[in-house]
Amino acid sequence: MAETTHDLVVIGAGPGGYVAAIRAAQLGLNVACVEEVEALGGTCLRIGCIPSKAMLESSERYHETKSALAPHGVKVSGVDLDLAQMLRRKDEVVGGRTKGVEFLFKKNKVTRYLGRGRIEGPGRVVVKNGSGSTDLRTRHIVIATGSKPTTLPGIQMNTDRIGASTEALSYSAVPKHLVVIGAGYIGLELGSVWLRLGAKVTVVEYLERILPGMDMEIAREGQKLLERQGLEFRLGQRVTGARVDGKSCVVECQDAEPIRCDRVLVAVGRAPNTDGVGLDSVGIKTDEKGRIPVDDRFATSAPDIYAIGDVIRGSMLAHKAEEEGVACVERIVTGYGHVNYDAVPGVVYTQPEIASVGKTEEELKESGVEYRKGVIFFRANARAHCLGQIDGRVKVLAHARTDRVLGVHIIGPRAGDMIAEAAVAIEFGASSEDVARACHAHPTLAESLKEAALAVDGRAIHS
Ligand code: NAI
Repeated sequence: MAETTHDLVVIGAGPGGYVAAIRAAQLGLNVACVEEVEALGGTCLRIGCIPSKAMLESSERYHETKSALAPHGVKVSGVDLDLAQMLRRKDEVVGGRTKGVEFLFKKNKVTRYLGRGRIEGPGRVVVKNGSGSTDLRTRHIVIATGSKPTTLPGIQMNTDRIGASTEALSYSAVPKHLVVIGAGYIGLELGSVWLRLGAKVTVVEYLERILPGMDMEIAREGQKLLERQGLEFRLGQRVTGARVDGKSCVVECQDAEPIRCDRVLVAVGRAPNTDGVGLDSVGIKTDEKGRIPVDDRFATSAPDIYAIGDVIRGSMLAHKAEEEGVACVERIVTGYGHVNYDAVPGVVYTQPEIASVGKTEEELKESGVEYRKGVIFFRANARAHCLGQIDGRVKVLAHARTDRVLGVHIIGPRAGDMIAEAAVAIEFGASSEDVARACHAHPTLAESLKEAALAVDGRAIHS
């Protein structure tokens, strides 16, 4: 078996792993990254964030061209869907991005190993692929193996008809009736894609609300707006099973009639990917949710072995994994580096987008923090009227005494871009007064954030 020595071996080339590898190389380490899939970029680039955003964009263009241009004075007829081309474009976007990571690895002199990496004791990772094994010796190891979709007992996964997000990114035809199990990020985004392309979409959710963890007021508005688009919600219904029955599928729910449909998307969460990573060889034990316990340096219980991203605690988001990757290797090399989890935004790329950073109102109430709240509706924003997208609101939550911004929650056009300013405000410890006094270009959607910050003190001009 060939043997090679590195300062750092990163297992997994998703957003957490590849960013950690590049940052470590920038800091002067001799870095290797092991990835079993040919294309780099992990779930996010290949079968997650990027293909879903490509499909969200294309389906939105189709829907808009077909049914939303008349008010702009644009007459169109004969609009047809070319689903095969839409899927090809999505694959091209993905191909370009994964090649981009390859380029970055070469540029930063990160050595890439194709194969499955397994820790075989301290300082040792063995990479196996079809053509043999390579024995890597290393000072440090970062585990960045991500997550995989979970399912429910009673669901007979059958990739063709009853599948997870990977399948729902590439249906070869528009389903007549798609049942989505779970009203989380994936369910709402991919449900929206197929709804816009012509499917009837029913979302069955166990809780009495959509988007658990998001601010309730914003989630309620999201539900109302998505229902208006035609998405059907069955809340408070626990799915107990799903199976293929002849030409259709049947989704069984506790205390409710079964639903017949032709496709099922199971979107009930993701589980950390730790199978076959060799945790046992170094005595690392996972917690009750299968996650690898780490301290605030991302160090596991085994010396010089670290873990980041979806395999550890916290939200399963690409940008959270990236931040952790950078902080982890900076701590290894320089002794400092941290992640401010209060400033990690979350975005659901529906139409309108739903974005959030910091504490929700529910969290503040629960922890007894006194806060003041400023809310501005997009219908008070001139740019939103020009865009023809006036639904939604911006909510700023600030500490009642210090005025420090504690949370910002937005539902509305380009909320995912707008939330960046709120994340910067929280990172810098800004007060709502700071945000309110910063000059915002007119006419922009971002003015609504300024106005919501003014509204915290009852000083909004346009409401
Ligand atoms: P999720 O955790 O966001 O939502 C799963 C939903 O399924 C929950 O609402 C849960 O109550 C429901 N559920 C669970 N068991 C059920 C049952 N028996 N019957 C009915 N409903 C049931 O998980 P999701 O949407 O699968 O996403 C997985 C991860 O991927 C998330 O952690 C998310 O952070 C990440 N993601 C992020 C995106 C983004 O940043 N835009 C996009 C897609 C995924």
